[in-house]
Amino acid sequence: MIVADRIEHAYQAGDQQVPILHGISLRVTQGEMVAVMGPSGSGKSTLLYCLAGLVRPTGGSATLNGQNLSQLTDTQLAKLRRSELGFVFQSYNLMPTLSGFENVALPFRLGRRPVPTEKIREVLDTVGLGHRADALPSAMSGGEQQRVALARVLAQRPPIVFADEPTGALDTRTGVIVLDELVNLAHSDGHCVLTVTHDPSVAARCDRVLFLFNGRLAQELRTPTAEQVAGVMTALTAEVEAAEVSTGSTDVSTGSTDGGAR
Ligand SMILES: Nc1ncnc2c1ncn2[C@@H]1O[C@H](COP(=O)(O)OP(=O)(O)OP(=O)(O)O)[C@@H](O)[C@H]1O
Ligand SMILES: [Mg+2]
Repeated sequence: MIVADRIEHAYQAGDQQVPILHGISLRVTQGEMVAVMGPSGSGKSTLLYCLAGLVRPTGGSATLNGQNLSQLTDTQLAKLRRSELGFVFQSYNLMPTLSGFENVALPFRLGRRPVPTEKIREVLDTVGLGHRADALPSAMSGGEQQRVALARVLAQRPPIVFADEPTGALDTRTGVIVLDELVNLAHSDGHCVLTVTHDPSVAARCDRVLFLFNGRLAQELRTPTAEQVAGVMTALTAEVEAAEVSTGSTDVSTGSTDGGAR
């Protein structure tokens, strides 16, 4: 289970603190797949980093499967992340010197667990990358790198999965395959999946959608349709644009607005 209790975060920019998250509370239970949506710059990735223990929030706390992250040392946090968490980064975070296969195998090696060669090949086949297993990330397209990052999580099947725009670089068909796998992880295996997406059709496959706006949770939809999701996103994006016009500036929390319904 993921529990966020009034999470706040501010980035340090020179000698100034730039507040990004303003007291986010949420809960994702086992067996649930939840989407986070919101305009670009609204703090979605930052929220995921705080919840996954990659960034220490400047206020509030995150609790994963009963362990309050603020009470863990860096070493304990790293251990928890290795054993219980999977993270698909927006920027994929692959090791450039390792092949696709070895990138998927890496968490097993780091955790000193046997590398399940057959399973890894199977997962790479599932995401359509069987033939690229030996290629280095530098020789892969963005979508192929993203699929390696997804295969890494799907091979481990950790109890808690965070995914930051996991289908952003995928074609429609591959996106559906990947999404099916993430939905299965939640609904069949009873794991906990929290995913950021800009795509209303991805959000519509989730049990709930949380909308982030200027670092605050603005709205929640349960079992939404893609049309409902697109409607809320259009309204939020219009609010961002109206705020930019009225202030005559693009402040950090209302940057560009490519988060509209695509
Ligand atoms: N390390 C950092 N230092 C300072 N500011 C940062 C840092 N990382 C992010 N920000 C700022 O925090 C805000 C939120 O960033 P974040 O990456 O969480 O947005 P997002 O909602 O994930 O956007 P997108 O949809 O474009 O991925 C942005 O204004 C960004 O410029
Ligand atoms: Mg982001």
